[in-house]
Amino acid sequence: MSQLLVRGGGCLRGSVTVQGAKNSVLPILAATLLARGQVVLEGCPHLRDVDASIRILRYLGCEAQWEGSTLIVDTAALKRCEISDILMREMRSSAIFLGAILARCGRADLSYPGGCELGPRPIDLHLSGLRDLGAEITDEGGVLHCRAAELRGREILLSLPSVGATENLMLAACGASETTVISNAAREPEIVDLQNFLNACGAKVSGAGSSAITVEGGQSLHGCVYGCMPDRIVAATYLCAAASAGGEIFLRGAEERHLAPVTAVLREAGCTIVSDSSGILCASRKRLRAVRTVRTAPYPGFPTDAQAILMAALLRSRGATVFEENIFENRYRHVDELVRMGAEIQVSGRVAVVTGVETLHGAPVRCTDLRGGAALCVAALAAEGDTHISEIGHIDRGYQDIARDLQALGADIARVESPENSNPDRRQR
Ligand code: EPZ
Repeated sequence: MSQLLVRGGGCLRGSVTVQGAKNSVLPILAATLLARGQVVLEGCPHLRDVDASIRILRYLGCEAQWEGSTLIVDTAALKRCEISDILMREMRSSAIFLGAILARCGRADLSYPGGCELGPRPIDLHLSGLRDLGAEITDEGGVLHCRAAELRGREILLSLPSVGATENLMLAACGASETTVISNAAREPEIVDLQNFLNACGAKVSGAGSSAITVEGGQSLHGCVYGCMPDRIVAATYLCAAASAGGEIFLRGAEERHLAPVTAVLREAGCTIVSDSSGILCASRKRLRAVRTVRTAPYPGFPTDAQAILMAALLRSRGATVFEENIFENRYRHVDELVRMGAEIQVSGRVAVVTGVETLHGAPVRCTDLRGGAALCVAALAAEGDTHISEIGHIDRGYQDIARDLQALGADIARVESPENSNPDRRQR
């Protein structure tokens, strides 16, 4: 099995282009089902979750081919309206296909997406919104049977600003007659990107980024060429790595407006961060300071996906920082692994208190989930000695090549095939 071998203690210096955004590309791939014609996605990241989406598209009868970092999708030959249980279980966010299949076919059959490492991942808001649009949905033995002879637009009020539910309903609403207004919608930048993609295909969607999104139904969508937005959480990962290891990095293509809560906290901790239309520069020349309580919240609040990553960056800070995880029930699984490296973290329910220590030490650790795995990389870069990180398949779900990116930023990190191969002179570069 692959592992990451990190030799910590050095500063980071260098620049890297930030990959396309996983959480934007996944709903866009579902949205291709609504477009008659070829969709060309430029700057699409090669990720395990993208591969899972491609398998779903191909299972449905669609074509999807890579040309370098461009993914070309043509859904004209769609021949199925159901997704197998195996494919649904591969990726929790496969539920995002429901609204698009329903809009395209008038029916959809798929199993409940499983929970994941972060805890239960219900889709009740997705289903109630689709029922509001006129879908009849029954659950028979864990398989959802959805029927909608006609989807009719109307106002839908979400009880919480769910990213996935907002996206699913935007896609279903594109196939509805009349107009749909989604109130209390999620405001994440990835939802704005989905709106921009849909409009590039001829849809009439407006309001994304605000809590009220309007979708005019009855539009026929065509193919398009679309460039994926940069991944703000990948950018946050590398900023936190430089913040805690020290040094100076430049992230080409990163947009600070997408991760303002993260850069605000890093500035409070003592980093110098400057950004313009070309990217973000981050310099960290001294030990970080602890910061005020970090509470995760829907956008534009502090992103839950950056919680573990920032925690890792603050492990050697002066003072103590309180974290409050308000989005997912079980998003502190990385804590035990960080403690193995010498971190001092106390967890009680949704609250975690990080007390900064003078030094961290390398250790054998394992990834518990996608962002928890990235957090281990951040901590390992600031630790003394070598850290072996196993079960890195979690990281590959959302990072195209974290080792290559961090190497470009000056990190001593390599992907090794197994412990006996981690001898430095046999490490892959
Ligand atoms: C998206 O997940 C992201 N995934 C997550 O990123 C991200 O953490 C999350 O939004 C929050 O920003 C993708 O975009 C593929 P939600 P999603 O629906 O859509 C509850 C990563 O690391 N809820 O906004 O599943 C839910 O249980 C991943 O890249 C319901 O109760 O998130 C959670 O507590 C992890 N009922 C909260 O809402 C529902 O019907 C937020 O979930 C839907 C959600």
